[in-house]
Amino acid sequence: MCGIIGYIGSENAVPIILDGLKKLEYRGYDSSGIAVMDNKGFSVVKQKGRLSELETAVNARPISGFLGIGHTRWATHGEPSDINSHPHLGSQNKIAIVHNGIIENYKQLKERLEQKGIQFVSQTDSEVIAQLAEYYHTGDIMDTVIKVANALEGSYALGIMCLDDPDKLIAIKKDNPLIIGVSDSGNFIASDVPAVLSHTNKVYYLNDKEIAVLTREGVKFYNTDKEPLEKHLETITWSIDSAEKGGYEHFMLKEIMEQPKVLHDTIQSVLGDGDNRRIIDSLDITNFNKIVITACGSAYNAGMVAKYVMERLCRLPVEVDLASEFRYKDAIVDQNTLVILVSQSGETADTIAAMREAKRKGAVTLSIVNVIGSTIAKETDYTLYTLAGPEIAVATTKAFSAQLLMLYFLAVKFAAKLGRINSEQAEEYFKEIASLPDKAAKLLEQIDFIQMYASTCVGYKSIFFIGRNIDYAIAMEGSLKLKEISYIHSEAYAGGELKHGTISLIEEDTLVVAISTNESLYGKIYSNVEQVISRGAKVLFIGNCIKAVPDEKLSIVELPKINDLFSPSLSVIVLQLFSYYVAANKGLDIDKPRNLAKSVTVE
Ligand code: M6R
Repeated sequence: MCGIIGYIGSENAVPIILDGLKKLEYRGYDSSGIAVMDNKGFSVVKQKGRLSELETAVNARPISGFLGIGHTRWATHGEPSDINSHPHLGSQNKIAIVHNGIIENYKQLKERLEQKGIQFVSQTDSEVIAQLAEYYHTGDIMDTVIKVANALEGSYALGIMCLDDPDKLIAIKKDNPLIIGVSDSGNFIASDVPAVLSHTNKVYYLNDKEIAVLTREGVKFYNTDKEPLEKHLETITWSIDSAEKGGYEHFMLKEIMEQPKVLHDTIQSVLGDGDNRRIIDSLDITNFNKIVITACGSAYNAGMVAKYVMERLCRLPVEVDLASEFRYKDAIVDQNTLVILVSQSGETADTIAAMREAKRKGAVTLSIVNVIGSTIAKETDYTLYTLAGPEIAVATTKAFSAQLLMLYFLAVKFAAKLGRINSEQAEEYFKEIASLPDKAAKLLEQIDFIQMYASTCVGYKSIFFIGRNIDYAIAMEGSLKLKEISYIHSEAYAGGELKHGTISLIEEDTLVVAISTNESLYGKIYSNVEQVISRGAKVLFIGNCIKAVPDEKLSIVELPKINDLFSPSLSVIVLQLFSYYVAANKGLDIDKPRNLAKSVTVE
C-alpha cells in the first residue's frame, strides 16, 4: 500500500530514488512521483501508470538535486492520476511530502483549511498533510512536523522536505513502516529495506511517533517532545541478490524455486540453536485451553492447514478467523487463549487490529512474521520469524511455505508438551519435517510437466479445487493463488461438499484440481473425482497415494511420500507452479496483479 523513499547526500538523488521505487513497486503501482530540492525550489514529476512512465517523464524533463523524495502509489482516496500522485506540495510550494497510510480525519482538516482560503488541487487525503504543514509552519520544521502529527488521525509514514531547511529530510511514522538507511555517501528513508540495500545494509527501524532528522552527514532521532532518542543500528544480513530477479522472468517464479532453501533455513531456525527455538520452548501451552489463529489471505490459509495439524496432534481446539472478522466479532478470547497472528509483512491493517483486540481482551499473542521489526512482530508477546527473505511478488509463495513450517513445529512442540505424543514420536515428526527441503527440490523437477499442463488451461472461465481435511485447506490456497494472478474465477471445496450444490456447476470440460495426500481418504476423494469426470470435467489429480491411471480426462502429478500432516508443503508447490504458468501463458503481469498490493496496510 504505497512505497516511499527519500535521500539526502552527496549524489544526485534522482537515480537513487527511481531505483529505490523499483524495489518498492510491489507496494503499489498505479502511479508514482518524485520531487527534488535545489537552490531554486522543488522540481516535481508525477505520472499516472507504472514506474516506467515516470522514468520516461523524468528522462524527457531531467531534474536533479541532492535531496529528494519519491512515492509509488496504491490509490485509496482519489483515482490514480497525475495530480493525485505524490509528492504533494502545500499551496505556497514550501513543503513537499510523500505519504503511505490513510488520514482518517482528512475531511475535517481539509474543510478547516479551505475555510481559511487554502485551495486543494487533488482528491487525496495526503495533500492535507502538506497543506497543514505549510499552514502551521513558522520557521522550525521540527515544530511543524510535531504539530501536524498531533493533528492527524489514522496511519502514516511520511517523508518531508521544507525549503526553509534545505539541508534536512524529515521522517515520522505511525502504524506504517519506515526504515532509515545510513551510508557514507548519504542517508535514506524507505518503506522497506530492499529500496536502500544497494547503498547500505545499515538501517534503523523507526517506531511510532519517532522523528528522524536526516542530513548529509548523519541522522538524529527525537520524540514528539523534541527529546533526543538513542536507537540501535541494525545490520541487514541478506544480500541485494535476494531482492533481484536473478535471471528469472518473474519474482514469483524465483520465489517458488527458492523454497527448498527457505524450508531448510526455517527448519534450522527451530531445530538449531536460534531465537525461534528458544521462543517456542519458552511458551507453556499447558496454560491455554484454546488456540485462535487469525490472519488474512494466504496467511489465513496457512492457519487453516494448521488447524488440522494442531487439532490432530494436540487434541486442543483451534479456531481460525479472518482477521477482518475477528476484529469486529467480539471474539471469545481471554488469558487462557493463545492467539496466533500470521503475517508475511507484519503490517496488514486487519491483522494488526485483530492483534490489538486480542491483547485488549487479555489473550497471549504469538506472531509468525517474515519482515523483521514490523508492527506485528514488535507488538506481540512472542514473535517467530520465518526465514523467507524478501518476498517481492504480490502473490506469496515462499513466505507462505515458511509460515506452514513454523505452524507444524508449533503443533509438534505443543503436542509433546501436552503429553499427546512422546519424545520418539516428536522426533519422528521432526524428521519428516526436516525431509521437506529435499522433497520440495525433487518435486520442482516436475516443473516441465506442470508448465505444459498449465499451458492447456488458459481458456477456462472457472476452475475448482477440491480436497478433504488438510488437502481441502491447501486447496483454498491453490484457488486463491490462481485467481489473484490469472484472473480466472476459482473456488475451493471440501470434496464431500460438492454434492450439496456445487456439482451443478460441473459441465463438459470444467477443470477440477483434486488433491489427495491422505491414504485413508483416498477412496472418498477418488469417488469425487469420478463424479466430476462422469459429468464431463477434466481433472488434474495431485497426490502421493493415487492409484488411478492417467487418461485423456485425468492427469496426475505424483508428490513425494510424506506424512499427510506435512503434505501441504509439497502440494502447494504444484499449485503455485500451476497458477504461475496459467498466468504466464495468458501474458499477465504476474508480479503485480491488477488492483492488488503486497502489504494491505488499509482496511
Ligand atoms: O502480509 P500478510 O501475510 O499479512 O498478507 C496477508 C494477505 O494480504 C496476503 O497473504 C495475500 O492474500 C497474498 N497476496 C496472497 O498471495
